[in-house]
Amino acid sequence: MKKLLLTICYFSYFVGAYGQSTLSIVGPGKEVNPYLYTVQKRGEFKQAAVSSAHPLASMVGAVVMKKGGNAFDAAIATQLVLAVVYPNAGNIGGGGFLLGRKVNGELIGIDYREAAPASASRDMYLDKNGNAKLNLSQNGHLASGIPGTVAGLFTTMNYAKLPFSQLIQPAIDIAANGYVLTEKEAASLNSVKDAIVKNSTQANAFVKSTRWKVGDTLVQKELAATLQRIQQEGQKGFYEGKTAELIVAEMKRGNGIVSMDDLKNYQAKMRAPISFNYRGHQVISFAPPSSGGILLAQMLKMIEKYPVSKYGFQTRKSVQLMIEAERRAYADRAEFMGDPDFFKVPIKTLISDDYLAKRMSDYDSDKAGISSNIKAGVIKESEETTHLSIVDAEGNMVAVTTTLNNSYGCRTVVGGAGFLLNNEMDDFSVKPGVPNMYGAVGGEANAIQPGKRMLSSMTPTLVLKDNKPFVVIGTPGGTTIPTSVYQAIVNMIDFNMGVGDAIDKPKFHHQWLPDEVMVENDFDATTKDQLQKMGYKISMRGAIGRTEGIKFLPNKRREAAADKRGDDSVAGF
Ligand code: GLY
Repeated sequence: MKKLLLTICYFSYFVGAYGQSTLSIVGPGKEVNPYLYTVQKRGEFKQAAVSSAHPLASMVGAVVMKKGGNAFDAAIATQLVLAVVYPNAGNIGGGGFLLGRKVNGELIGIDYREAAPASASRDMYLDKNGNAKLNLSQNGHLASGIPGTVAGLFTTMNYAKLPFSQLIQPAIDIAANGYVLTEKEAASLNSVKDAIVKNSTQANAFVKSTRWKVGDTLVQKELAATLQRIQQEGQKGFYEGKTAELIVAEMKRGNGIVSMDDLKNYQAKMRAPISFNYRGHQVISFAPPSSGGILLAQMLKMIEKYPVSKYGFQTRKSVQLMIEAERRAYADRAEFMGDPDFFKVPIKTLISDDYLAKRMSDYDSDKAGISSNIKAGVIKESEETTHLSIVDAEGNMVAVTTTLNNSYGCRTVVGGAGFLLNNEMDDFSVKPGVPNMYGAVGGEANAIQPGKRMLSSMTPTLVLKDNKPFVVIGTPGGTTIPTSVYQAIVNMIDFNMGVGDAIDKPKFHHQWLPDEVMVENDFDATTKDQLQKMGYKISMRGAIGRTEGIKFLPNKRREAAADKRGDDSVAGF
């Protein structure tokens, strides 16, 4: 039995031994040993850094840069490894957004969000009486949108330096020969076993007769073969030929509707990022079909005229102000945001100074706001997604957030192809005005239409100071994503925290409706009591998000931090 050594190292200075010139980097005695690895929560690196949800993925990204790749090469290789070692959310069966800034200042926004199949329709999840059949938008084949990740990776190749065949090799090696499970991963696979058995039509690597335990090796031969087809045939190795046939065969066995044409026609799209200023910093984030960038701009700009640092970190006064900004921004989400190719999203107005000043005109620092006075609706959605932040030696910055939606997506493994499909169709409003299983509502802006991309909350974000790289950040967490990024940025800019502290501090979240503030269990008890006395309803909860961030220090070193809340890990050199 191969042994797992899992330790947590704080503030370690990583000096890698990446001497070899090929990307045969995975295996015992090589740069990335999938049978013996450590979680590293912090690192200060001279040149390049990666922070992601899994140590093996971060290590591969760092080695790729050590061997001549840039941050875009690393983003491709890291995502592919996450598709193997982090099946909860890493994927080739889902979608995501990449936000990049080249050292010459060029901004790059790649939208590879899943899309509704051509035969999808507005009422596809309603029964004959008009009632929503939520099980179908969340579980099994019909819940899946057309996957976008592989198209996103090949679009990212326009900015990369190394051949794709090299960048995918580490993922193939780990899938073919296996990696050792951490305790959290073993528990996670055990918890989802019944759902995967129920929703999949064929045997797969995630399900075995006995329970998974820490130290077990997970081998994914079918996934390795799928990745090899992509290595050999490029994007067509996924969207056409054998992989596409396996996806469509799986759809037919489970009454899904993704067709060969849907796959062949899928394309990633370039999106102009959302860019705005906050206290002398330029913040850049993702545009619709994600709501993330708009929400982040709205919340930060709504609090900018208030002296937040004087109010004090997570005092009653600063938290109350930030909650009221959150409430107002999320009230706009359901009404105004959707796929901009199908619905005109009034981006300029939503983030304009005049509009946001009006939104805060009824703000009262002595009174709890009331959501029913602001706008009707309920917003809540699944929280399983994953984020990676990367910087390279040249100063290129890349933030990627990618998702299957729910943890393990629709819990359907494509028979013979070894990967999980998303359940992103549930991010649409399955019936305008009616909440889905997670409570999300929307209207026309986010109604289902063939080819349309469902509204997201993903918020991959870059921050510049004096027009130079300052921070790369993002997180999973469904509707809590924009508020997590917002709070981490306030912690760094208003409270001058290092990126690790900024990420690990307790979080709070208000999303307009339900009209309550969710706070993490370690949130300050005095502030909580004071807010409750003002009339805020507070609910305690476990971890919010798993944020990964990298900050450029004045001495030009890169301070990388991985969230304390998971096995998230940094690497670099
Ligand atoms: N499925 C989570 C999101 O896109 O926000």
